[in-house]
Amino acid sequence: MLTNSSPLAQTARVLVAPGKGILAADESFPTIGKRFAALEIASTEANRRAYRELLFSTPSLGDSISGAILFDETLRQKSTAGPSFVELLLSQGILPGIKVDLGTTELANFPGETITQGLDGLRERLREYSGLGARFTKWRAVLKIKDGLPTATCIEANAHALAMCAALSQEAGLVPIVEPEVLMDGDHAIDRTAEVMTATLEMVFKTLGRHRVRLDEMLLKPAMVLPGAACPQPVSDEEIATRTLQCLRQNVPAAVAGIVFLSGGQTPAHATQRLAAINRLGHAPWPLTFSFGRALQDPALKAWHGDLANVPAAQAALLDRARQNRAALPPSAP
Ligand code: 13P
Repeated sequence: MLTNSSPLAQTARVLVAPGKGILAADESFPTIGKRFAALEIASTEANRRAYRELLFSTPSLGDSISGAILFDETLRQKSTAGPSFVELLLSQGILPGIKVDLGTTELANFPGETITQGLDGLRERLREYSGLGARFTKWRAVLKIKDGLPTATCIEANAHALAMCAALSQEAGLVPIVEPEVLMDGDHAIDRTAEVMTATLEMVFKTLGRHRVRLDEMLLKPAMVLPGAACPQPVSDEEIATRTLQCLRQNVPAAVAGIVFLSGGQTPAHATQRLAAINRLGHAPWPLTFSFGRALQDPALKAWHGDLANVPAAQAALLDRARQNRAALPPSAP
């Protein structure tokens, strides 16, 4: 098999190495504010720093985590003992990455739909992030399923932004994670999700090609093909796994370095069970692993609850989730 040995292709392969996945800890100010508020934790700089420090200093985390996605503030913070978070992660064998989009805004003329912002000045920001030690980037597009949504225009506009970010990231020596998230909000059936995901991936890869993005130097971060969260028909994990792999095999070129799923609001247990079911199917041309936020962090955040005394319990909860997700991947060679 031809293997690209460029530094970016190597980084991409490290991120999806056997038995490993990514910790998404890149919650923006509004998102971390929401997660903290649910537990009545104040979203101060000190609390955000303390929380991220407990995550990144979890002993043995690097055994199942290859990379961590950070938010701008976090990439610049230091641990209590002095080393930066970037140094702390590297000492665990975990590559630091950075969320580079600036969140979503309403798409003009398309009520209910959004476009992701952050392309202006991105080349300069990427140069700075690379200097701070980031090795990869993430840009998230959001597609909502509703009557008549998403529109082709919304899919196209978001695919364009994803491709621009991916091309700029590769130019800056950073591996892009391309994240077109199809939300699970709604009562639609799984067929509708498969249809929307197909249209989205088709447009995303067509646009990445036009922008000359090198597929073996990037990762795709999709949602799983799920029924809407309020859909009355229950669907088994096996069905979800089959529909997900079918959709990806049909629409994702084999050259892509890897696929790293988001958890998207599934319970931690569901996200892990379904990842395991997908991997049990086998026969995929790419490694299939996790880049979970909530499905890795939720039990740890609850255990911590803003109290220093709970750090060991929170770290044990994170390690447990990381190990369970590792166990959902194909066994790695001894
Ligand atoms: P969730 O796994 O909580 O969906 O977060 C992943 C992520 O990075 C969202 O952009």
